[in-house]
Amino acid sequence: MAKLTVKDVELKGKKVLVRVDFNVPLKDGVITNDNRITAALPTIKYILEQGGRAILFSHLGRVKEEADKEGKSLAPVAADLAAKLGQEVAFIAGATRGAELEAAINALEDGQVLLVENTRFEDVDGKKESKNDPELGKYWASLGDLFVNDAFGTAHRAHASNVGIASNLESAAGFLMEKEIKFIGGAVDEPVRPFVAILGGAKVSDKIGVIKHLLNKADKVLIGGGMAYTFMKAQGLEIGKSLLEADKVELAKELLESAGDKLILPIDAKMAHEFGNDVEITIAKNEEFPADQMALDIGPASVELFAKELEGAKTVVWNGPMGVFELSNFAQGTIGVCEAIAKLSDAVTIIGGGDSAAAAMQLGFADDFTHISTGGGASLEYLEGKELPGVASISD
Ligand code: 3PG
Repeated sequence: MAKLTVKDVELKGKKVLVRVDFNVPLKDGVITNDNRITAALPTIKYILEQGGRAILFSHLGRVKEEADKEGKSLAPVAADLAAKLGQEVAFIAGATRGAELEAAINALEDGQVLLVENTRFEDVDGKKESKNDPELGKYWASLGDLFVNDAFGTAHRAHASNVGIASNLESAAGFLMEKEIKFIGGAVDEPVRPFVAILGGAKVSDKIGVIKHLLNKADKVLIGGGMAYTFMKAQGLEIGKSLLEADKVELAKELLESAGDKLILPIDAKMAHEFGNDVEITIAKNEEFPADQMALDIGPASVELFAKELEGAKTVVWNGPMGVFELSNFAQGTIGVCEAIAKLSDAVTIIGGGDSAAAAMQLGFADDFTHISTGGGASLEYLEGKELPGVASISD
């Protein structure tokens, strides 16, 4: 990799500032998916084993005013991390700066770790974190000797706790950051062919950049999920009550014309009169969508078609579920694609974060992928070919 990594820097006895992405889902103070914490462990453990003193920074949720801080403390994350590491994690609730935090950092010994409170608590007073306030980045940088950025999930943001610190200190990529760049960047820029991209999710508007970029890079682009129906409308088909972005029909037409046979749409759908699991299901071919029903998943013939397109693929990148996988009756399309990918024994297979990553994990296919990205928005922007500020700010 062209960037400095944690392996390239001297860590012993150093106060190592580490940006991680511990923006994990919490319900009543309980972490409901700890994937991002687990994924950061190799870097944290390596720093501690090398005799470094790790000072971790992360945001959690979005904080605009004082009241938003409620339920957004990183305290539950500190406890979870301590259990995972099997050692104490110093944490001062509410402290993103100040004498008490500085004293705790200075009291750290080699091999010890501290977690700074939610960096976005600094947003209450003039959005200092999210607007990359230069003084804040400089202050945080002054707390350590070097910076390791392992927060791929936040790499599409230019905030004080990633870009701000990096502009004041030597910065290296952590192992997770390195892995994400290697897999996602490698798949898109130097794919072993055939390269098949699968794009789903509700809206065309969220994925325009990715569709365009991947149409240039991939051999096939399979489109599922709610956005497929705007493409069908563009083909002149009647889509019943299915999701439609009327203002994107023209764009979908243009994409269909320029893509030729590279772009593959579903050929049938699982439909219902209303959104829900306990509803009567109709399987309909594209030309036969009932006017009073909505498509909630791709149908069995589409699963077969997509599986056929995936046969022999050597690189697969997937972003966005095929249907409303949260409802068990409409998870079959997403499961079918997971199964087809699981059969590819010698392919590099990557899920680009967000809902599709959650789907693969929830449906029990996590081990069938080469890489499940920890990035939602970050992986999407990376798949679009955009430069991510968090990555760009790491020293070359
Ligand atoms: C994410 O979950 O995508 C990242 O942690 C970034 O969070 P944000 O969208 O609130 O900046």
